[in-house]
This record gives sequence, C-alpha cells and structure tokens, in this order.
Amino acid sequence: MTPALVILFCVFMGTHGFNTQLVIEPQPNFDVEKFTGEWYRIGVADESPFFAMIKNHLKVSKGLLVSDTNGNLNLTMWSIRPYGCSVSVYSYEKTDVPGEFTYFSKRHKITKDITIVETNYTDYSLVLKYKNIHKEYTQVALYGRSSIQRPELIEKFRSFALSLGFSDEAIAIPADVDPCPILEQSQPWIQTLGYIYSVLLHIWGTVSVLTQTTTGEMQH
Ligand SMILES: *[C@@H]1O[C@H](CO)[C@@H](O)[C@H](O)[C@H]1NC(C)=O
Ligand SMILES: *[C@@H]1O[C@H](CO)[C@@H](O)[C@H](O)[C@H]1NC(C)=O
Repeated sequence: MTPALVILFCVFMGTHGFNTQLVIEPQPNFDVEKFTGEWYRIGVADESPFFAMIKNHLKVSKGLLVSDTNGNLNLTMWSIRPYGCSVSVYSYEKTDVPGEFTYFSKRHKITKDITIVETNYTDYSLVLKYKNIHKEYTQVALYGRSSIQRPELIEKFRSFALSLGFSDEAIAIPADVDPCPILEQSQPWIQTLGYIYSVLLHIWGTVSVLTQTTTGEMQH
C-alpha cells in the first residue's frame, strides 16, 4: 500500500482499530423483569488509559438491579473502600428500544447508551456501554448470576470484546471477589475480615487508596 492508501485505510477503520462498522442490536424480546436481581460483574473490557491504570485492582463486584413499573432500572453496586463498603446507585432510563437504556455518566459528563447485547437471564449477560465505539467511552462488561468464572462464559465475553476491536490488554477478568456488601450482623467474622482488609488497604498507601476509590467509579 502507498502511504496515502494506508492513511485512508486507517481513517476508515477508526483510529483505534475498533470495528465501527458493526451494528449492535440488543437481546431480542428483551424482558426487563427477568433481567432484574443480583448480578456479579466478572469481566470488563475498556481501552481507556484510565482503565489500564486501575485494571489490576479491579474486583468482581456485586450489583443489584431493580426496575420500576415503567421499565427503568436502578443498579446498586458495592465496593470495598478503606473505610468499609461503599454503595453507588446508577439510573438507567429505558428507551423506545427494549434492551437499550441511557444514563448520565458523571465521570465523562455525557449521556451514554447502554445495550443488553445478550443474556439468558439465569446465567450471564453481555452489556455494552456507548455503542458508537470510542476509546474513552466504550466499555463491555460480562455479568454473571454468580461470581464463579466459568471458562465458557469468559470465552464468550473475550471473543465478543475482541470482535469489537478491543485489544487483549484491555480485557480484565478480576481474580478476587469484592467482599462487599458486608451486611451480616450475625457473622462478625465477615466484618472482622472486612476490617482487616480495610487496614491492609491503608497500609498500601495513598496511591492504592486513590486507585481503589476510582475503581468504584468504573460503573460510570
Ligand atoms: C431509582 O432511584 C431513584 C432515587 O432513589 C428513584 O427516584 C427512582 O424511582 C428509582 N428508579 C427505579 C427504576 O427504581
Ligand atoms: C443459560 O445458560 C446456561 C449455560 O450457559 C444454561 O445452563 C442455562 O440453562 C441457560 N438458561 C436458559 C434460560 O437458557
């Protein structure tokens, strides 16, 4: 190829090797009721430099998804912080397309779309944020009804992310499960574990603490 052709080719492909030609449709006959309940985020693909920084600190976090009668969703997610468990709530508004929602990203200060690309409700879901694929904004997540990372699920997620043009390095499958929420009053040993964990976080120092804090913002 001549240099001019190479440049043209790069422009066509988008600047980051993302597959911008793909049309991504939500899960056919999406059923919001069946989709609600507990989910664990067991994988994240994100090409942003910010994610590259925090990727190794990422944990499998628990989320609880509830819907209202209109079909809007609220996602509550828990993450461990130096002072204990922190809770974040994200509001997803339904659109005219079942399986597609919008929400305001506090981190990027823009409204983003969110698509439930594939789910079988009882087991897993593949969720895409910002389908007009963009290095800073787009994220794919794999959710499971349990925190167990089954190889076939991970494989499904990886191949989906790679098919969109994500690089291998942008795909994170956290090894540890976040201990939050730590609710059980009757099981003080869990609280003790949470306490020891938070002390350890302190010892890791300010940089680690900062990173932990920003990890919680990943849902944005
Ligand atoms: C989400 O939470 C907000 C604030 O608590 C509430 O006003 C709204 O009705 C909730 N929406 C859903 C879908 O539960
Ligand atoms: C969802 O997928 C899992 C395996 O991936 C399977 O065991 C389960 O039966 C499926 N559920 C439905 C409702 O298809």
